[in-house]
Amino acid sequence: MTDAPISMFTRRIAARSVSPHSRARAVAVAAALGAAALGGGCANRRAVGGTTEEPAVERRIADAMYAVLSADRATYAREVVDRLQNQDKVLRAGEHFRDEKLLPLPAQMLRMAAEEIRKQHHDLAVALLSEWPINRQNAAHTDIERAGLRAVVEHPDRPYTGEEVLGKQRFFTAVYADKAVSNACVDCHNKHEDSPRHDFKSGDVLGGVVIRVAKM
Ligand code: HEC
Repeated sequence: MTDAPISMFTRRIAARSVSPHSRARAVAVAAALGAAALGGGCANRRAVGGTTEEPAVERRIADAMYAVLSADRATYAREVVDRLQNQDKVLRAGEHFRDEKLLPLPAQMLRMAAEEIRKQHHDLAVALLSEWPINRQNAAHTDIERAGLRAVVEHPDRPYTGEEVLGKQRFFTAVYADKAVSNACVDCHNKHEDSPRHDFKSGDVLGGVVIRVAKM
């Protein structure tokens, strides 16, 4: 591991650990999670002139964040929304969940988690967008978001990545496919009156999870 630029986020993780090898370990953990997200370490590496180049640390942080967020998201959709709403039929999910005493939508769960992340880490940002948004605010706003949403529909197995400057900060930005991992996703999006598309099938890409990691 070279002493390549490390983001504030990774430094903070490393600073909290006690062992002298902590920083290397923090990076290794992020790398392992990132590899898991892609289903194999090799897909995460680029071969350069016969050798293998390590992906940038921002990419590994984004991959690790996506692995955790998407696992939580799939579990919530399957074990909470699909089970209680579609199988046991005891409680449904709805946009006005507080007033109507319903379950929050999976998208709202992700947004609430994104707000919590932003409170603790100003150098990280998460958004859930789509080319077919129920909520028009969830359409792409930047060029990378637009290109990324298109790219993950065509290649759902790999994220679309790039760099962009927002405000005065340069970000590494990655867009990951957001797939209909449970029947609840497809049922609700197809039936929703504000949805611009009604022919989603299970496993289809409904949109993209955008993860931004500030560059040093
Ligand atoms: C019970 C209805 C319902 C279920 C179940 C549901 N969604 Fe949504 N989804 C919505 C609504 C409504 C919005 C817009 C919410 C907002 O932004 O306030 C939304 C937003 C989204 C967005 C952002 C773009 C948009 O349409 O505004 C994506 C992507 C998305 N959902 C994917 C999924 C996936 C994947 C699942 C399953 C894991 C899922 N949804 C389950 C209703 C649902």
